[in-house]
Amino acid sequence: MGRFYITTPIYYVNDAPHVGHAYTTVNADALARWHRLMGDDTKFLTGTDEHGQKVADAAAKNSVSAQEWTDVTSQRFREAWDALDVSYDDFIRTTEDRHRETVQTFLSAVYENGYIYKGTYRGLYCVSCEDYYTLESSDAGKCPVHGRVLSEMEEENWFFRLSAFQERLEAHYAANPGFVTPETKRNEALSFIRGGLRDISITRTSIDWGIPVPWDEGHVFYVWYDALINYLTAIGYGRDADEVATWWPASHHLIGKEILRFHCVWWPAMCMAAGLEPPAHVQVHGWLLLRGQKLSKTMAAEGQVRLTDIAPTTLTGEFGVDPVRYYLLRETALGNDGEFSHEGITHRYNTDLANNLGNLLNRVATVVGSKCAGIGPAPDPHSALAGVAREALGEARDAWESFSPQGGLEATWRLLSATNAYLEEHEPWKMAPGPQVESVLGDALEVLRLVAVAASPAMPGVSAAIWSRIGLEGTPVERTFDESVLWGQYPAGRAVLKAEPLFPRIRVDA
Ligand code: ME8
Ligand code: MG
Repeated sequence: MGRFYITTPIYYVNDAPHVGHAYTTVNADALARWHRLMGDDTKFLTGTDEHGQKVADAAAKNSVSAQEWTDVTSQRFREAWDALDVSYDDFIRTTEDRHRETVQTFLSAVYENGYIYKGTYRGLYCVSCEDYYTLESSDAGKCPVHGRVLSEMEEENWFFRLSAFQERLEAHYAANPGFVTPETKRNEALSFIRGGLRDISITRTSIDWGIPVPWDEGHVFYVWYDALINYLTAIGYGRDADEVATWWPASHHLIGKEILRFHCVWWPAMCMAAGLEPPAHVQVHGWLLLRGQKLSKTMAAEGQVRLTDIAPTTLTGEFGVDPVRYYLLRETALGNDGEFSHEGITHRYNTDLANNLGNLLNRVATVVGSKCAGIGPAPDPHSALAGVAREALGEARDAWESFSPQGGLEATWRLLSATNAYLEEHEPWKMAPGPQVESVLGDALEVLRLVAVAASPAMPGVSAAIWSRIGLEGTPVERTFDESVLWGQYPAGRAVLKAEPLFPRIRVDA
């Protein structure tokens, strides 16, 4: 049994959350739930990034103080995660005292170790990215992510000697081939490092909405420099050495590809500069797209999409919590981009949930009702499905362990398809009551038990509902995955509930 510390990016509170943020958070949640199911000691952190110019601008535009604005908007993220049944262990806000203290402690260590110095910075700035570009790294003077015209900025400020870490970073990548996944993103980070590292400016005097630099009044830390440190704040860096030793570096950062450089280059170097090991692993994912473009708060602000249409709470209201979770996990593999659409959710819902899982559950409950007086029979220990289950769930296990919720679900759904095919082959609804029909139905009930366990990281509510409908006590997650998935544990003699379909088909107008 291991330790597993997983984090999402902390999201900017310039505006409300959308389904792109939900994509990351639900994937992190499912991975956290998976590791709890494996019996691992697990900690799942998410939160909000509340400093910087972008957030200050949003507050000013809404005529409230920055603190008021962040209080309200941060709460909207919590509400979205509650609506999506997200089981975070800690929700961090960068305006909290614990974070200010950690940032100041961490950066004082970096300063004392000689990696911070004073200089002048000149460059092209994108407020949406809160990042500088050079003319070469820009899109002809425009931001390559947001398409906005970049503004020229010059400030005197403090610099982090990133250039001093080139060789150490290269060595770290060489010694830890799994540091960044997928491989394509690892190569991207590595080639950025090999291309030569420039020192980075880490303080601002142009704004005051930030964490004060302890050794130079009038300067606040650049928002990115404060934000990354949140991963340490939440495990008590500077306050609780045992807690740090427990969770660091057992850390896995799940991030979108646009913030790869911060997490895969700056962050490990910052850790090294403070005398700390880099995090264990950064898992990079792609973007949900809308008409081929990255879904973003900037896109919504420009009126290209209504934020409410892509709000997590709108989607859960429309499709239900677990169907939205399932779609986010199943449709787009971590690492790829995927087009987001309501039609896409509807299609997944009808195909995988209504026709496959829901159909199996309904069929079994109906035939157990008509042939076995509603009492579930035991599975056949030598059923042909036993081998199919062992193989499919073994693959699911491997996929989840390698950060692929999509692969985990795909393998689990293969077992469902095989079981529906098994019922069609044996047609228990045509059989006379007796041992033969009982063994077929017992096998199908056993598959439902197994799937309730294997799908629980993705669909906790649905899994619990299946569990109780097939007459089982407790919940699907009370024992570890490995203990639960051995074939043949469905007990005979339980009442199987015939009830409303869990997934009524969504009608699609042709
Ligand atoms: O970058 N598809 O915050 P942010 C997939 N505060 N994921 C998406 C997405 C999309 N269309 N849109 C957003 C920041 N995301 C910083 C992070 S971390 C120390 C600081 C997700 O509000 C994805 O995880 O811009 C992306 O990396 C994150 O939201 C960016 O959120
Ligand atoms: Mg962003």
